[in-house]
Amino acid sequence: MTNTIEITKAQTSKIHDVDFENLSFGKVFTDHMFVCDFKNGEWQQPEITPYAPITLDPSARVFHYGQAVFEGMKAFKDDENKVWLFRPEDNLLRINKSAERLAIPAFPQDVFMEGLKALVQLDEAWVKQGLGNSLYIRPFVIATEPAIAASPAVEYKFLIICSPAQSYYSGDVRVLIAEEFSRSANGGVGYAKAAGNYAAQFYPTNLANKEGFQQIIWTDADTHQYLEEAGTMNVFFRINDTLITAPTSERILDGITRKSILKIAEDSGISVEVRPVKVSELIEASKDGSLKEIFGSGTAAIVSPISAFSYKGEVFEIPHQEERFSAIFKEKLLNIQYNKSEDPYGWRVSI
Ligand code: COI
Repeated sequence: MTNTIEITKAQTSKIHDVDFENLSFGKVFTDHMFVCDFKNGEWQQPEITPYAPITLDPSARVFHYGQAVFEGMKAFKDDENKVWLFRPEDNLLRINKSAERLAIPAFPQDVFMEGLKALVQLDEAWVKQGLGNSLYIRPFVIATEPAIAASPAVEYKFLIICSPAQSYYSGDVRVLIAEEFSRSANGGVGYAKAAGNYAAQFYPTNLANKEGFQQIIWTDADTHQYLEEAGTMNVFFRINDTLITAPTSERILDGITRKSILKIAEDSGISVEVRPVKVSELIEASKDGSLKEIFGSGTAAIVSPISAFSYKGEVFEIPHQEERFSAIFKEKLLNIQYNKSEDPYGWRVSI
């Protein structure tokens, strides 16, 4: 593989057709994409091409066995028009960890970083200034080999596409605790950003939607007594003034926003507990008034307050706090991401 990325620019830009004030998450894509194929045992020439549909054989293994992994990351523009990525190496490490679990070959770190930066530079006009505006970046790998034997493919496509984004959820989220559904059991693929993990939440989320809840929180596969993560984000609980979240595990995604929040919380002197959280503990804390907040964290969701949860048909409303932890963490995180504050952690990476 040669590291020099071949760049073919789009002849015209679609940017003027886009209403940046009214974006629905993930529906509009920038002018270019990064593409690299895996064939003959190695990754081939990386390219940036105009954003366009790709053609796959109907027998491509991704269609039959879901051999696919993805990442979610963002670019931000500061007041001086400089564009920043947030902890991109962590996304690279995680996509390769996910890939290993799905028997997909690892993607080289230098080509990932170079391709990512070149792509974001080329489509830099799509990264709008202003808190809340960002460019959502979706790296993903799919098994393209035309063959339907249930075994790992020998051909893959690695792509990066980008979509201008505002908020994923508008307003507070109401969640339903899944009493019988789990993201994964031990030994499964829960820790991976495997495409199928997210498809598997559509059905329970549809059931939750019918009852007026936007999201589910998965419970553990063994007992369904412990809270794991939400369909599209990790979850945090604030009981009195302690911040609590479940430990990452074979079943729970090691969220980059999650671990950033934990670091910010610890450094802000907030008491933090990373430990299993029982549904019964949450219900008790809600009843005795010590449950002050629940919020989700994720690249797309950023920090999303949760205003109510439902369990076995009973709904628990969470009273609004004047000083929300979620607001503090969101502000600190956004300040780092948008280059509005010091970045003591070295999380911000310029392109
Ligand atoms: C992200 O937050 O980037 C995710 O990958 C969640 C996705 C399902 C929107």
